[in-house]
Amino acid sequence: MLKCVGVSKEFGGLQALKNVDLTVEKGEIAGLVGPNGSGKSTLLNLISGVYKPDQGKVLFMGEDISKLPPHAICARGITKTAQNVQSFPDMTAMENVLTSVLFARKMDRDGQDPLDRTKQLLEFVGLKTEKFNLPTRNLNVVELRRVQFARALATKPKLLLLDELLTGLTPKESDEAIALVKQVNQQGITVLMVEHVMKVIMGLCSRVVVLHHGEKICEGTPEKVCSDKNVINVYLGKRFTFGED
Ligand SMILES: Nc1ncnc2c1ncn2[C@@H]1O[C@H](COP(=O)(O)OP(=O)(O)O)[C@@H](O)[C@H]1O
Ligand SMILES: [Mg+2]
Repeated sequence: MLKCVGVSKEFGGLQALKNVDLTVEKGEIAGLVGPNGSGKSTLLNLISGVYKPDQGKVLFMGEDISKLPPHAICARGITKTAQNVQSFPDMTAMENVLTSVLFARKMDRDGQDPLDRTKQLLEFVGLKTEKFNLPTRNLNVVELRRVQFARALATKPKLLLLDELLTGLTPKESDEAIALVKQVNQQGITVLMVEHVMKVIMGLCSRVVVLHHGEKICEGTPEKVCSDKNVINVYLGKRFTFGED
């Protein structure tokens, strides 16, 4: 479904990504892990069109999307939730999600009543009903993540990119979010997720890619990646034992 071929990205002399190849198969939940600053967010930003690669290509269902703007990439079926949650702060949670619902309608992906669909999405992601009509500047970061997740789903993605969706959640909230990601995947949406907690990766992902200083250092099943000496040295650390974080 998705193929990054030798993508590189430099920011003012800093090589954030070096010649990275990445494949995501239709239907899977793939994981992207690595230390802070290893280039994970940059890679998701290259796929979603926020940045353009200096070298290499991003192919989505066979089409080269490397030079397309984010809205055109979204229209083709790729949506991303950002690590630093963004919203329109003066608009309500409903209005924030409605913008995405209306964008999807414009692309002719949805015939349902926009307000009904917006409510349904906010209920699905578990935002409390009494928060629906509050400006998002009054929501906490966990609530904002829910709104952001609803906005992403509203565009009816084929491929959903999640950048640290679970960061900052309590264990209970995290379990709920994991169940939501599974449900979304079962509905036919392919997922590529950046996540720090290896237990989450082990529970959700069929395949994991590890970045270190902008380079791919390992790729494979969670079991393979977690027992890779180099990955343990540079990322997981010796304290890591199987199934724990
Ligand atoms: N817009 C930007 N301008 C300059 N440097 C950036 C920018 N985005 C990311 N970087 C740098 O690129 C490297 C990779 O960052 P990032 O992709 O955010 O890493 P990760 O998500 O793995 O923590 C870091 O050194 C970061 O400071
Ligand atoms: Mg990041």
